[in-house]
Amino acid sequence: MSIQFDEQAKLLTLETRSSVYQMQIDTLGYLRHLYYGRRVGPQNMSYTYRAYDCGFSGNPYELRRERSDSPDLMPQEYSSFGVGDYRLHSVAVVNADGSRCASLRYVEHEITEGKYIIPGLPAVYDNGGEAETLTVTLRDAVTGLTIRLRYGIFETLDIITRSAELVNEGTAAITLEKAASVCLEFSRDSWDLLHFYGRHCLERQPERAPIGNLITTVSSERGTSSHHHNPFVIVCDHDATEEQGDCFGAMLMYSGSFKAELERSQTGDVRLVMGVSDTGFSWTLSPGERFHTPEVILSYADGLTALSHNYHRVIRHNVCRGEHHLKRRPVLINNWEATYFNLSEEKLLAIAKEAAELGVELFVLDDGWFRGRIDDNAGLGDWFASEQRLPNGLHALIEKINALGLQFGIWVEPEMVNEDSDLYRAHPDWALSAPGREPTMGRNQLVLDMSRADVREYLYSCISTLLLENNISYIKWDMNRSLSDVYSKALPPERQGEVAHRYVLGVYELLERLTADFPHVLFEGCSGGGGRFDAGMLYYTPQIWCSDDTDAIERLRIQGGTSYGYPVSTMGAHVSASPNHQTGRATPIETRGIVAMSGAFGYELDLTKLSEEDKTEIKRQIKQFHEDEDLLHGGLYYRLSDVSAPLHYVAWQMVSEDKSRSLVNLVLRAPRPNAAPLRLRLRGLDPDALYRIDEDTPVCTGAALMCGGYTFPQMLGDYPSAQLHLTKIEDGRL
Ligand code: GLA
Repeated sequence: MSIQFDEQAKLLTLETRSSVYQMQIDTLGYLRHLYYGRRVGPQNMSYTYRAYDCGFSGNPYELRRERSDSPDLMPQEYSSFGVGDYRLHSVAVVNADGSRCASLRYVEHEITEGKYIIPGLPAVYDNGGEAETLTVTLRDAVTGLTIRLRYGIFETLDIITRSAELVNEGTAAITLEKAASVCLEFSRDSWDLLHFYGRHCLERQPERAPIGNLITTVSSERGTSSHHHNPFVIVCDHDATEEQGDCFGAMLMYSGSFKAELERSQTGDVRLVMGVSDTGFSWTLSPGERFHTPEVILSYADGLTALSHNYHRVIRHNVCRGEHHLKRRPVLINNWEATYFNLSEEKLLAIAKEAAELGVELFVLDDGWFRGRIDDNAGLGDWFASEQRLPNGLHALIEKINALGLQFGIWVEPEMVNEDSDLYRAHPDWALSAPGREPTMGRNQLVLDMSRADVREYLYSCISTLLLENNISYIKWDMNRSLSDVYSKALPPERQGEVAHRYVLGVYELLERLTADFPHVLFEGCSGGGGRFDAGMLYYTPQIWCSDDTDAIERLRIQGGTSYGYPVSTMGAHVSASPNHQTGRATPIETRGIVAMSGAFGYELDLTKLSEEDKTEIKRQIKQFHEDEDLLHGGLYYRLSDVSAPLHYVAWQMVSEDKSRSLVNLVLRAPRPNAAPLRLRLRGLDPDALYRIDEDTPVCTGAALMCGGYTFPQMLGDYPSAQLHLTKIEDGRL
């Protein structure tokens, strides 16, 4: 049993392989957080909290004489605004009488087999017998607002999920102004926050800083999880390294505007609150109505590497779904950087022919194939093949590409509409925009109101027709602007605060329907590259285009930053042209291959313009990718260097679960004169096993390679790289 209830001490204890999470129902009914961290034996952790009367921290009415405790000081599982806790709150309400208070006290709890689901929202799933659920019910006695806190415990995965269901069990409407997914308390120690910031073409750059006394917010108000901040944060011990130290991850499984806020209290404790952003948010709950928060995936581990392994495992096995999530992914060629909008059937077929000869398996037709789409000012919304661009029709093109032995995939951007489109001319009210105002534009396009069922129905009909009429095995689902003017003509004024979240629910509903109806199709997410790279989207699309920056050297930091939370198999990564189109940098094809192979692998360049040497190298890369794919996508991932440190190299390693094989990747970011050969200590090997590396290196023990390291031959020139294959010698043990 991973959930225990101690009736006498009123303790609820959740246990995973390496962590314990404990809470207590106190005599007044507050649900106190006691502990989350490494295992501590069968211990009641309530002794760690000593109540005292701290000035200007109010007391519950029941304690008015003793003044012995305050909601402002006690660690809590779900904090509420207005009743004496002045720190970050999880829930804020406006009651029918205008009061803004909710005092949440324990009512009951229930322990059930299996993992709870969240209606309408993605959630970590149970593959059978892996999880248990704890539901703790809290209630505000005056209004009847009832909150069911749900905890999903995946013991062997070292994962605890949380979500809250808020139900109006009273008789008058309640408006939610905030409803977070999690409140998590940390003790008074010195903690760092590791978060992942960026911009278009520069996503998920890791930044680590001590948590001080300022309130820190990691957030997006863009309607998507965004390029700018990722809904994944790590709170770690100030001294934590890749290999050891307390590390806690909180990953919001949500693709819209979010907030992760951290505050150090007056007594030095740290509180993390994370969920849907409350900026511009309100949600009316009429009697009987309920609101479900998205899920937060929590994990504790000793060291950053172990934390990443926990997230990689849960995302691969319990977040991504469908036929493709654990299957070999096809090596693809995408025509975007080869042609941009300048495409013709002849050009596409020329690229496809080369691709087939090189061993590519899937041809992806990107933007520009549909009616009116001669550039990015028109056409979005009209998902019908352009007679001008493809005079013989889409069907004929696909047949020709299939005849070359390639599968066919296609780009769509369903959530968007151009003013210059038949769809907009017929339904201007389907776009988000506020009455009486010209909307803000982005890439000269508007955002469709995905909260509307008629919009979703139209999109379902377009995309399902495309899939039914054509032999399409892959869809790239793009989304190329941030939301603004978030107003739905289908909702009354008092419900406009719901639109941003209803938009995300609408996207999920459409994706659910399409992925269920077309299970053979592989969906890849995209939002101007990695602007919506989150666990919510990964529930529907097992891979996401990681960035519009295809420069291999830039990708080291983008993919390296992404690796803290997300596995290699989820990161779309392509070999593109040199010099690169985003940076103008020239990089050897071997290096571009090594970087892209640590991802959902493909090519995105004009294959008809390559030299014979490059073509030979591409053939070799594809062959190698197939040989190593299990290791690359399914192996344990080790960062051998800190991608955000000013080092002249980046190195990372994959090790098979049984430690019999390993792949070490090294890329030099800057040439250095008269530099000693680089020596790196490897990780994750079996210390007692013997490994063969190459002809020049003697067989070494895992221990030797992990303690003494491996010395690379000297490497010169612009951005050289190396890959080492380690194979355990059969029965070769010391
Ligand atoms: C976005 C995507 C690119 C490409 C273009 C097409 O920027 O990230 O890969 O598909 O749109 O317009």
